[in-house]
Amino acid sequence: MNRHEFFLHAITGISALLFSRSMAGCSDSADQPPAPGLDFMLNLSDQINQSLAVVGGYVITNGVLVAHTSGGEFVAVSAKCTHEGTLLVYKPTENQFYCPLDLSRFSVTGAVVSGPATQPLNRYKVTTLNGANSLRVAG
Ligand code: FES
Repeated sequence: MNRHEFFLHAITGISALLFSRSMAGCSDSADQPPAPGLDFMLNLSDQINQSLAVVGGYVITNGVLVAHTSGGEFVAVSAKCTHEGTLLVYKPTENQFYCPLDLSRFSVTGAVVSGPATQPLNRYKVTTLNGANSLRVAG
């Protein structure tokens, strides 16, 4: 990696992290791996979940990234990159999950679009409840 590539890589990563902080709600449990038999609710009226009210927004909680995709659906996948565990970012312009560290990309199904990651993300079932005011995320 030459000097130009290094700085481009660093700036891209910093920009992605700043973007993710502005677009995502992130709870204290963001860094925890998803629990086996995962099952939790998100109230979309709660301030912490307000990012999900808009297309392209997302939250990370319980080790899961829940996104309101540019396709208009709610999608939930494991929040950490399968390469080295970096928290992912949802990019609505590409409708993909993106790793700000080494730039792996995943589709909304969790499949690897480009590496270095080789393993897919876990995907969880999202059900809308209470007139679409709540989401149930279960794995
Ligand atoms: S940690 Fe995500 S690609 Fe390396």
